[in-house]
Amino acid sequence: MGQIIIAIDGHSSCGKSTLARSLAQEFQYKHIDSGAMYRAVTYHFLEHKINIQDEDTVKVLLEDIDLQLENNSAASTLLYLNGRQLDSELRSQEVNHHVSQVASISAVRKKLVLIQREQGRTSGVVMDGRDIGTVVFPDAQLKLFLTADQKVRTKRRYEELQAKNLLRDLTWGDIEDNLRSRDEIDSNRLDSPLRVAEDAVVIDNSNLTRAEQNAMTACLARQRGA
Ligand code: DC
Repeated sequence: MGQIIIAIDGHSSCGKSTLARSLAQEFQYKHIDSGAMYRAVTYHFLEHKINIQDEDTVKVLLEDIDLQLENNSAASTLLYLNGRQLDSELRSQEVNHHVSQVASISAVRKKLVLIQREQGRTSGVVMDGRDIGTVVFPDAQLKLFLTADQKVRTKRRYEELQAKNLLRDLTWGDIEDNLRSRDEIDSNRLDSPLRVAEDAVVIDNSNLTRAEQNAMTACLARQRGA
């Protein structure tokens, strides 16, 4: 079995990480959720109450960040920020609201892209994010770009939060607004905006079941040497 790199990019709440996990399990690869890394940095900035617009402070605080990634048997990324494992904290509304802004800071991207490339050195990897096929691994053997109808994505996100008991007082409209605004910031930032790589396979999964999507993408991965 070959050890290829599978890059999965796409809009928010299209199931990128779920697909990445499933492919990683199928091929015994490691899965890296790069969005979780941007979320961890955002969490750190919020915890230290820094002004995200202040580039000098951002750079100083970035130097203090040590991010370690580990994969468990379920192909989930375990993430340690300065030795402390972060999980549900990364999905808070506060982090959701600030993460796209933090992800548009070049110094942040530079640091995280280095860590991401390091992860691709050793073995087969499935990495999901927004710039994996365009910037992090432009030579990835398989690039997937996921998208889905806005309403479908809002419904999935709503149900996901509900299932995890994280819905609290959030309305459907709040979730839809957050998705729309994140996509807008991610697509329009100057550094590494969300783009479809020229050689990516675009998948609109609005009307696909997970099983259909898994089968289709696993077949593509095999064709590319996985
Ligand atoms: O995939 P996610 O929703 O957890 O990502 C959180 C944010 O991080 C999202 O607004 C886009 C940004 N991001 C990015 O800019 N580049 C990546 N490779 C991954 C995520």
